[in-house]
Amino acid sequence: MKAGRCPLRCKFERMDKFIVEGPVRLQGRITVSGAKNASLALMPTCLLAPGVFHLTNTPNNRDVWTFSRLLGSMGVFAELNGNTLLLDSSNITSYEAPYDHVKKMRASIYVLGPLVARYGQARVSLPGGCNFGPRPVDLHLKGLEKLGASITIEGGYIIAKADRLKGTHFHFDISSVGASVNILMAAVLAKGHTVLTNVALEPEVTALARMLVKMGAKIDGIGTTTMEIQGVDELKAVTEDTIPDRIEAATFLLAGAMTKGDLTLEHVNPYHLTAVIQKLEDAGADIDVTGDSIRITMSEAPQAVDITTAPYPGYPTDSQAQWAAFMMMAQGAATIKDTIYPTRFGYVPELQRLGADIEVGEMHCTVKGGKQLTGATVMSSDLRASASLVMAGLVAHGHTEILRVYHLDRGYESLEKKLNAVGARIRRVPTEEY
Ligand code: UD1
Repeated sequence: MKAGRCPLRCKFERMDKFIVEGPVRLQGRITVSGAKNASLALMPTCLLAPGVFHLTNTPNNRDVWTFSRLLGSMGVFAELNGNTLLLDSSNITSYEAPYDHVKKMRASIYVLGPLVARYGQARVSLPGGCNFGPRPVDLHLKGLEKLGASITIEGGYIIAKADRLKGTHFHFDISSVGASVNILMAAVLAKGHTVLTNVALEPEVTALARMLVKMGAKIDGIGTTTMEIQGVDELKAVTEDTIPDRIEAATFLLAGAMTKGDLTLEHVNPYHLTAVIQKLEDAGADIDVTGDSIRITMSEAPQAVDITTAPYPGYPTDSQAQWAAFMMMAQGAATIKDTIYPTRFGYVPELQRLGADIEVGEMHCTVKGGKQLTGATVMSSDLRASASLVMAGLVAHGHTEILRVYHLDRGYESLEKKLNAVGARIRRVPTEEY
């Protein structure tokens, strides 16, 4: 096959909807996939060294497909065999991430750091806003400038140039996963010593740092907020395993609890889920952790429990919509506050269509549980919002039609198949409707 061809093509070019029949009770075992957000951080490392990379446990979802196509447009050969993603970066032909890719997936900006570090140039479309509010990339740009890159914005594109990046001290004003990923990838090839402070602690950042070390990078302080990097002249292609998806796991835990089910998740890292597990226990779930598996059982309606999102190891913003769905079953009112994306409540009007009693306030929503939910047609507005709608469909009486499941397909591999195997009744139906 030719370099750049992406065989993941057809699967994600369809426009599907889900028809979910409820109520159901989930019972059985589910294997959790590799972490979407870790894959997106590991994939651009192929721009840092020529050669053939193998990323095992890569989830087969739409974002991985989109990123593969972006890398393909730069000359990388990408092929997913089962869950092993092969990336051959021997022949890079372009240093550009066009708007068409970036508008589909903000993480496309992850090519910026590696391109400017290795090739001294990059042209990457500015991402713009997203469905849950403004998402600036100022820290990505500031960090690169601090490493010596010249940055200009022309025609909606970030143009970055550098002869060779130079080691520096850089403090991230805000804990940012994306900026940490980008700057770390740039710093490993910079000349000299770099100290990064307030680095994001998310497991996906740690996973990236470990892979970079395997490639030959010199990094101290992995897993802490201060990383020290001694730049090297070159790196090598490697094989790396992708960590389990903590957000997919959290979604299943919450779906299990919501349906008063009995689910065992396999191939998870329970340490990455501590905040979620603790909240679930506060709500009354029984949780049993053994090695890399977690069993959740729930027999009563949950207690109403508030959550406030925070950077890792706090409760993840990517699981707050699912918590709101879970709290629809509670006896009492729970407040869900999002400190990271204060307007990330686009799912609320859709849950209301199913009969939920939820009010949105500043930076939060309040869910009054215990209302009867009835199936209706609802629309996905973003990836995790879609997951909350599927969860609601599992407990609502009758048919729930969920439109625009392409949002869901961005971050979940075969969600409906995994849920159907443990008792859900979800049909995927191709549709022309957006
Ligand atoms: C990543 C995740 C996303 C998750 C988010 C927060 C990926 C591909 N995406 O997104 O699923 O919801 O972390 O856990 O891993 N910020 C700035 N300036 C910047 C960068 C960020 O102000 O230059 C702000 C953001 O607006 C936000 C906060 O910092 O309020 C955290 O964002 P960040 O961690 O960067 O999120 P992403 O990396 O975009």
